[in-house]
Amino acid sequence: MQISSSFLDKYNKPGPRYTSYPPATSFHTGFDNQQYVDALEKSNNDKPESISVYIHIPFCPQLCFFCGCNTTLSKSNQTIRRYIDAVLKEMDTVFQHLDKSRKVSQIHFGGGTPNSIQLFYLEEIVDKIKATFAFTDNPEIAIECSPAYLQLEHIDHLAKIGFNRISLGIQDFNKDVLDAINRRPSKLPIEDVIARIKQNNIKENIDLVYGLPLQTVESFKGNIERILALQPDRVVTFSYAHVPWVKEAQKNLEKYHLPDADEKIHMLEAGYNLLTENGYNAIGMDHYAKPDDELFLASKAKTLHRNFQGYCTRQTTGQVYAFGTSGISQLWSAYSQNEKNLNAYMDMVEKDGLAVVRGYSMSAQETIIREAINEIMCNGRLDLNEIALRLDTQIDVIKQELEYNPAKLQEFIDDKLLTLDNDVIQVSGDGMMVVRNIAMVFDPLLKVEENKFSKTV
Ligand SMILES: C[S@@+](CC[C@H](N)C(=O)[O-])C[C@H]1O[C@@H](n2cnc3c(N)ncnc32)[C@H](O)[C@@H]1O
Ligand code: SF4
Repeated sequence: MQISSSFLDKYNKPGPRYTSYPPATSFHTGFDNQQYVDALEKSNNDKPESISVYIHIPFCPQLCFFCGCNTTLSKSNQTIRRYIDAVLKEMDTVFQHLDKSRKVSQIHFGGGTPNSIQLFYLEEIVDKIKATFAFTDNPEIAIECSPAYLQLEHIDHLAKIGFNRISLGIQDFNKDVLDAINRRPSKLPIEDVIARIKQNNIKENIDLVYGLPLQTVESFKGNIERILALQPDRVVTFSYAHVPWVKEAQKNLEKYHLPDADEKIHMLEAGYNLLTENGYNAIGMDHYAKPDDELFLASKAKTLHRNFQGYCTRQTTGQVYAFGTSGISQLWSAYSQNEKNLNAYMDMVEKDGLAVVRGYSMSAQETIIREAINEIMCNGRLDLNEIALRLDTQIDVIKQELEYNPAKLQEFIDDKLLTLDNDVIQVSGDGMMVVRNIAMVFDPLLKVEENKFSKTV
């Protein structure tokens, strides 16, 4: 892969990340607890039938300046106990509306830093889910961990609880970069951490971020070389999203040299080339997996799916029920988001059992747009006939709701980024680099406003 400056000038513009459609920026406050309860009951008859559970643990012992997640500085044991009790109570409320014959296919603990609290709290939550639902054959039970707070015994304990996937946030190995972003390095040699994870038969992902202060293309290549020596099952290279108007702490990074768009793209390119030349396969824009990894197999079979927790397969995905501060539930007919503030969340759940503050009810048109955008973003392919079949409607309806106009695809065709044949759009060449731009063509309701979105490449 080689990306030119002119390519970048043409395609690098603000646009949604499409981790969901519509993006979370569209959620509104009219959606409340009652509407969530209605959506929960409706979800029992919607597809996918399986259940994904997301639990947000917002606590971090130290806050990294670059971070875009919903976090809060670690609290006293008493407050953590109160938070976990609120999450358990929220589960009681939600579970009472769900059909217990459905099975759990995925549990994901995200944050914040879920491994920074005592692990028995996580066990209580997993046990509650196990006591309420049966599981599918190969459920994924995953946790995001910062290696700064990870001891080898913690990994054994996580395995005992049932975790079978750990995402390790490395971001960068270099001390100067970590200092600039106010982040602690791994407590133990990362080689020992990975070895212990593998001994416990847990799969591991490693997260890197490119575009951080003081990074150069050369230093980023060094990061990838260290990753190659570790041989994790999966690697993710996130593009640093600089949104200081939302995340004020990011302003702390502006006193350093922040890599510009050109440098960032060369980091992405270097990562892509090194990883794909050394045994990894690219999935979507920024994920990499070994050839026998289920994500890569799903990507080859064009059955990849994505939710707020990242890529998953159509087998592992379910309707996502989220718990904890800022958690976003992703149901077929609606999105629902919880209160972000820790104290407000706990007060609301203690009073009413739920803490919904905003959300979104999907219209029929938006359901079609979401399906088209998911296909393009995950599988780099969109077959309009297949979408019509899946949604049990006619292709003319699909085209009308997407305001489909092949002329809007012409510049991508001319640049050899996609092909169009019989209502099948196939992303090709370097097209996945600009897949967000391609997805925007199938989003007739999009309004791009200044300072609302990060850049697409
Ligand atoms: C909740 S954090 C990971 C868990 C743990 N707290 C840690 O830091 O290792 C999830 C991931 O989001 C990514 N991330 C956070 N802020 C980001 C930003 N502003 N731009 C791009 N990626 C970001 C990081 O790669 C991080 O590993
Ligand atoms: S990157 Fe991880 S450890 Fe750092 S503030 Fe964000 S969630 Fe916390």
